[in-house]
Amino acid sequence: MELPLTNTVLHDPVYAQTMETLQELEQDRIFCRHGMAHCLDVARITMLLCREHGVGAEPDMVYAAALLHDIGRAAEYTGGIPHEEASIPLARTILTECHAPAAVQEQILHLIACHRHARKEDGSLAYLFSLADKRSRCCFACPAYAECSWAEERRNLTITE
Ligand SMILES: [Fe+2]
Ligand SMILES: [Fe+2]
Repeated sequence: MELPLTNTVLHDPVYAQTMETLQELEQDRIFCRHGMAHCLDVARITMLLCREHGVGAEPDMVYAAALLHDIGRAAEYTGGIPHEEASIPLARTILTECHAPAAVQEQILHLIACHRHARKEDGSLAYLFSLADKRSRCCFACPAYAECSWAEERRNLTITE
């Protein structure tokens, strides 16, 4: 299926530059990284969870949100701003450059804003997007398992469908 907004974001110069900077900053990181593989895992797992739970989700919006959700990580490393906050203005700039309609921008910014700790009241899609963000991590095979700050109950210790 065509994903026009997602591919426009992917090739946006600000997006590409920020992802490159993030990759450099995470080069020696022993914990989870936030590159393209993670972004695509989040998008795909979100779509699977939506199908499983009968939640409507527009794929282009979900994939674009997934590409952008951790974009503020670089600012978190360099400026100490929580990345779900730092991602918002950056994502807004990129989405505006990509001519995303205002309503789509708001949906994406909502998913980004609550991706770390979405609650049921944030909406089913936001909740599943946040769940996908966690499910994307292979804690059961992580070499930094002992040093990780994730609470034991949050960790993925088994492979699920
Ligand atoms: Fe994140
Ligand atoms: Fe993430």
